[in-house]
Amino acid sequence: MGLRHSYTLIAPFYDAAIARATEAARARSLAALPAEAGHVLLAGVGTGLDRPHLPPQHRYVGLDLTHAMLRRALPRAGRVDFTPVQGDAQRLPFTDAAFDSAVLHLILAVVPEPAHCFAEIARVVKPGGQVIVFDKFLRRGQPALLRRMINPLVRRVATRLDVVFEDLLPVAPGLALEHDQPALVGGWFRLIRLRKL
Ligand SMILES: C[S@@+](CC[C@H](N)C(=O)[O-])C[C@H]1O[C@@H](n2cnc3c(N)ncnc32)[C@H](O)[C@@H]1O
Repeated sequence: MGLRHSYTLIAPFYDAAIARATEAARARSLAALPAEAGHVLLAGVGTGLDRPHLPPQHRYVGLDLTHAMLRRALPRAGRVDFTPVQGDAQRLPFTDAAFDSAVLHLILAVVPEPAHCFAEIARVVKPGGQVIVFDKFLRRGQPALLRRMINPLVRRVATRLDVVFEDLLPVAPGLALEHDQPALVGGWFRLIRLRKL
């Protein structure tokens, strides 16, 4: 089963499972979006749980692989300028430097090839733009035996559990790390910000 199929099955239950636990971290993460109006990519937008924390001055593109998730995100948009796009975050259907900012909430560690996704994000964000990440990462050399053990199964249906954020940095040398803070579950989930040089 591919991720599109599994997230189609997960979609009706996603909010009940995820919303409350991630609410405060989302708010902290999205508070970093710039004050000046811009074009913002929400990569792997899901059911749109970020919506209550999105500043209204921006134009948003919400990209997701799964129609069943996007279909839930659209009515949530309310008065925010929001365009849904079905597509793959590892092969973005956008031109270079198309966005002022990109938000990667629970997508970088989900896709099979996080390095491809990270490189694509670096490509579509303008110089001076910001990349905002909220996700779960291992530290280099961290044993995390249980997570590594169940990863081969879980990565096929929901998310990878073995992604080391620092291993992604070399594929996008144009992204400079500005901020890295523990968010949830003893720092397994982190809030990270990068700037496109
Ligand atoms: C864990 S959910 C996160 C959703 C949302 N960003 C959030 O914070 O709640 C992962 C999302 O990534 C989507 N997804 C999985 N693989 C993808 C891919 N290759 N490209 C774009 N979206 C993908 C899934 O359909 C799902 O909506």
